[in-house]
Amino acid sequence: MAKEPVRVLVTGAAGQIGYALVPMIARGIMLGADQPVILHMLDIPFAAEALNGVKMELVDAAFPLLKGVVATTDVVEACTGVNVAVMVGGFPRKEGMERKDVMSKNVSIYKSQASALEQHAAPNCKVLVVANPANTNALILKEFAPSIPAKNITCLTRLDHNRALGQISERLSVQVSDVKNVIIWGNHSSTQYPDVNHATVGDKPVRELVKDDEWLNGEFITTVQQRGAAIIKARKLSSALSAASAACDHIRDWVLGTPEGTWVSMGVYSDGSYNVPAGVIYSFPVTCKNGEWTIVQGLAIDEFSRKKLDLTGAELTEEKELAYSCLS
Ligand code: NAD
Ligand code: LMR
Repeated sequence: MAKEPVRVLVTGAAGQIGYALVPMIARGIMLGADQPVILHMLDIPFAAEALNGVKMELVDAAFPLLKGVVATTDVVEACTGVNVAVMVGGFPRKEGMERKDVMSKNVSIYKSQASALEQHAAPNCKVLVVANPANTNALILKEFAPSIPAKNITCLTRLDHNRALGQISERLSVQVSDVKNVIIWGNHSSTQYPDVNHATVGDKPVRELVKDDEWLNGEFITTVQQRGAAIIKARKLSSALSAASAACDHIRDWVLGTPEGTWVSMGVYSDGSYNVPAGVIYSFPVTCKNGEWTIVQGLAIDEFSRKKLDLTGAELTEEKELAYSCLS
């Protein structure tokens, strides 16, 4: 029997990530090749005509899984009945801008969209925040939507996770799909800590294969941390196809589960695991089963890693304070 369609909201759908993301969702890349979807696309009135153009293209693409498209500038209409919400809408960072510069523009958007989701989304709606500052926007959304369970509100660090896989695969000349269990800890920012201490290729530790701790503790980390800025420099626009693909990976693994023995990185509401600050959205290694994520526990954290976990945690605490000061 055919499955009931799942309603997926994409905010900022007329933007560049939105343009890459909606066809992926309509092709089943996010929720599976047998899962019909109804797309809800939200943007602001300034972008309404472009949004309508995206809707026209979705119709023209004749995606068999796409059972309907709602394209609107009305946040209530956009949020009504959605089962998955991918929050891409916001003010993007431009070349030369620090992420903190965009904070005040974005946290007020996330405060108001929190209420709309809380009141109108389907029960148990899963939320993924992509727009930067992603961790702190997700935290604001959580705080202003108190009836949505905290475990349902996450942010995207899967792009950073995939970037780390990509760097290791290039360095070792192995298939990216053979690299497993890297971790992104903390903030989706230049303080994030890409950690390979538990990563493997086949049954071998990545450290043993790379045989170059100086590279792993230096250039590898900074390349992943700075990759978003490098793409902005090269494209004069922030990453879009890789961000859209990572958003699909994030939701797919959350809903359908992570493969046995494999974890992924997700920004989730911190319970203070690994002695990082509780009460911020922090990226951890997680496994997913039956639509629920669980933080992987018990991984050894050496002194080098400890400092990096603390540094990015401190930045998130500071961003939280800054976000509240922008809202007051
Ligand atoms: P974009 O400017 O092309 O698109 C953003 C869209 O959001 C625009 O169409 C804009 O009109 C819309 N928008 C603005 N305010 C809105 C609101 N209140 N409600 C609904 N829509 C609204 O930007 P983009 O390149 O698509 O990037 C989107 C966001 O994703 C940015 O914040 C960017 O920094 C972030 N990003 C995050 C990651 C990540 O890994 N977490 C990666 C890449 C980009
Ligand atoms: C990225 O990691 O590519 C983006 O978050 C960069 C940005 O600031 O938009």
